[in-house]
Amino acid sequence: MEHGHELAVVVLVLLLLVSATSCTFLEENMILGTVEEATVAARLGGGGGGSKGANASMRGGTCVVGAGAGGGGGGKYYVGWKEEIAGMAGRPEMASWLRAVRRRIHERPELAYEEVETSRLVREELEAMGVGFRHPVARTGVVATLGTGRPPVVALRADMDALPIQEAVEWEHKSKNPGKMHACGHDAHVAMLLGAAKILKAREHHLKGTVRLLFQPAEESGAGAKRMIEGGALEDVEAIFAVHVSHQHPTSVIGSRTGPLLAGCGFFKAVIHGGRRSADPVLAAASTIISLQSIVSREADPLDSQVVSVAVVNGREHQVGASPSSSAAAAAAAEEEEFVLGGTFRAFSNASFYHVRRRIEEVITAQSRVHGCEAAVDFFENQSFYPPTVNDGRMYEHVKAVAGELLGPGRYRDVPPMMGAEDFSFYSQVVPAGFYYIGVRNETLGSVHTGHSPYFMIDEDVLPTGAAFHAAIAERYLADHSPSSDPDVEQESR
Ligand SMILES: *[C@@H]1O[C@H](CO)[C@@H](O)[C@H](O)[C@H]1NC(C)=O
Ligand SMILES: *[C@@H]1O[C@H](CO)[C@@H](O)[C@H](O)[C@H]1NC(C)=O
Ligand SMILES: *[C@@H]1O[C@H](CO)[C@@H](O)[C@H](O)[C@H]1NC(C)=O
Ligand SMILES: *[C@@H]1O[C@H](CO)[C@@H](O)[C@H](O)[C@H]1NC(C)=O
Repeated sequence: MEHGHELAVVVLVLLLLVSATSCTFLEENMILGTVEEATVAARLGGGGGGSKGANASMRGGTCVVGAGAGGGGGGKYYVGWKEEIAGMAGRPEMASWLRAVRRRIHERPELAYEEVETSRLVREELEAMGVGFRHPVARTGVVATLGTGRPPVVALRADMDALPIQEAVEWEHKSKNPGKMHACGHDAHVAMLLGAAKILKAREHHLKGTVRLLFQPAEESGAGAKRMIEGGALEDVEAIFAVHVSHQHPTSVIGSRTGPLLAGCGFFKAVIHGGRRSADPVLAAASTIISLQSIVSREADPLDSQVVSVAVVNGREHQVGASPSSSAAAAAAAEEEEFVLGGTFRAFSNASFYHVRRRIEEVITAQSRVHGCEAAVDFFENQSFYPPTVNDGRMYEHVKAVAGELLGPGRYRDVPPMMGAEDFSFYSQVVPAGFYYIGVRNETLGSVHTGHSPYFMIDEDVLPTGAAFHAAIAERYLADHSPSSDPDVEQESR
């Protein structure tokens, strides 16, 4: 029994590991084959370092400021704004500072709610820029503020946590924390948002409202976004945007879509145990696993993508051949027998996500009862229970329009939805949200690995573009939505 107990512990650890490492972008590989191969060789850097980057992008751009053909961000704004932002982001000293910040974070990866050093680095950089902030929010989180202090308020978010993965990339700035790695690009996300802070601070006189920068803990597991909201990070915020690096798009190409973008993601663990003498938890578990398959195959709308997958099974060792000395002992032995199964589920709408959760619980408890067993199901709701990430139509248009203006046509693409998940979904449930990808794919550098791979890396030339794009998203949003802006433009673009 001791052995069985150990096994159960191993399973729990396994399950927690799964929940800590497989939520975001787990299924990227699955859909890789369906995503059209990268054909646009566009990049802000134009093949150079950061120095000539900005202007290379501007050369590729249309530079038709104020003639935007509808859509968010297509309103009138002063001529030269994008050249100014791109110019500042493209300075060599900006590029090298961004790289240095990203590398410092990369070397010292910290897991969910342990982002102590990362959080300190963020605060020190903000202090050096003269940007005010609030800390702690959600334990290690930082909320910085720029602009007028008055509405409208637009938020930009970066996640700070790393993954429990041992880095396998051999390079100068390899992770110095054993078993931990920034294998999902959050180091780059923090650097790009700090870059945006620097750009926006220099342009604070242009801001027609308030920009709030959210440096949040625990995206990979632990629902840091939820804790940030509880900590007041979204108070008065009317729109929020965030970026995620993607190995599917060439460096600095932006990708997004309207509506559901990433799946809702949950995990479950069921403990089935024999309730009476004849009960067999193994048979109950077997029936339960088969029945769980029918939730998606027989109940879900085939056009509404869903996944229910049992990924972990474990039974306590049976005392085969041992004959109990009394019926009471037999009953006691049956009661002690238990079977653990666990897995994950995904769905693209809030309704389907909660429906699947409810059906998993019903199927497990009812099917166990058929075999005289009892089951308890845990959904890790405080840890890894992320609803779908859904882009607001107007915020999506804004991202697309600003990408067209700042980076030029050909550097934006609509992308298919993905079965991975993001805790940005918690923000997207509260305020209109725009989530987008920025490409880091560069075959020459070997930056081709999916997030959560120990070989994951990024093309650091993305950093100036990411910083500039963040800044442009916020500045243009405020310009388009401030009460003092041209009412005709307001009507036109919204
Ligand atoms: C990849 O990176 C190298 C070195 O920085 C650069 O010369 C090349 O243009 C990049 N390729 C793409 C497609 O971005
Ligand atoms: C970019 O172009 C502008 C105007 O064309 C120029 O003033 C600026 O120095 C250029 N920046 C870089 C980094 O080459
Ligand atoms: C989940 O978190 C909430 C507070 O955010 C707390 O009240 C509740 O007890 C937690 N539940 C579990 C099972 O840890
Ligand atoms: C999602 O569904 C749950 C359960 O029905 C509900 O409590 C919650 O309010 C919903 N959230 C949104 C944003 O609709």
